[in-house]
Amino acid sequence: MMILGRPVSSRFLASHAPRCLGLPANPIIRWSSYSAPQGPHADPRKKVTISKLQSLYRKNEPITVLTAHDFPSGLVADAAGIDAVLVGDSLGMVALGMEDTNSVTIEEMLVHCRSVTRAVKSAFLIGDLPMGSYEVSTEQAVRTVIKMVKEGHVNAVKMECGAEMAPTIKRITEAGIPVIAHIGLTPQRQHSLGGFRVQGKTVAGAVKVLQDALAVQEAGAFMILVEAVPAEVAAIVTKRLRVPTIGIGSGNGCSGQALVQADMTGNFPPGRFVPKFVKTFADVWGGSIRGIEEYKRQVKTKAFPDADYGYEISEEELAKFKDCVDGAVKEQGKHSK
Ligand code: KIV
Repeated sequence: MMILGRPVSSRFLASHAPRCLGLPANPIIRWSSYSAPQGPHADPRKKVTISKLQSLYRKNEPITVLTAHDFPSGLVADAAGIDAVLVGDSLGMVALGMEDTNSVTIEEMLVHCRSVTRAVKSAFLIGDLPMGSYEVSTEQAVRTVIKMVKEGHVNAVKMECGAEMAPTIKRITEAGIPVIAHIGLTPQRQHSLGGFRVQGKTVAGAVKVLQDALAVQEAGAFMILVEAVPAEVAAIVTKRLRVPTIGIGSGNGCSGQALVQADMTGNFPPGRFVPKFVKTFADVWGGSIRGIEEYKRQVKTKAFPDADYGYEISEEELAKFKDCVDGAVKEQGKHSK
């Protein structure tokens, strides 16, 4: 549309016309590209609570868990209707470019937990305890967990552990904070496990997985994440429990599944190693590369930005501004002679 002989974008009209006519501004229009979604992408669900997760388990409906490490990944997980969002310490590798998860600090976890919890309005929120923040003593673990809840605003914590951490789990749950125990392949213990190795492949290994699961359940863990354990073993363990198991690389017999968002959305360059259990459901990297290359092309050829992506000034104000600049230039010319 043309106004005063100048092209005016529909976005500009939508946001300015109501104000000019004395009407309330359209509430969908936001100036920041980081605003939370409104309208069709807003998440209208009720908040997922621990009771909701337990009810899904009782109904035999698989529980969906997905990681998020920042505000945008939290928003999209919540908008897609994921049951529980995990701010995992995979943060270190996925978002902070670290070699493994062992260097992640509690301060880094807190910053990222806060950004995710600002985005997630419905899904249950889980924060991971990073290495070194809970193993020293029960007191250290309780202090860390309280920090995660008070400063990271998560609903529950996840800790990599086995039967040996049962007293700590008991103390944390007594303090009123729900715990998810992470058993099987525990990446923080990669060096004592001899690397990122599948667990429970021998009788002794499978018995250990079962013993760990029973011990953490007894201690009060309300959910158990089982990583990289043969499907049959994870299914038998799941049947022996009265709390849900969430599998990652542990087959279909678990009560739910978890994946790392960057892995399952294909948000990584081609050729990067991903574990065998990762199924890639989207091509975020491909879409982003194509979009960024097109942006670069349009900037280089000056196709972007056109009038649709800019702001207006009236002809009258522009003419005055030009006079002003011309006057100033003439004035400067006089003084420099
Ligand atoms: O940190 C993480 O992302 C995890 C995965 C196993 C889900 O713990």
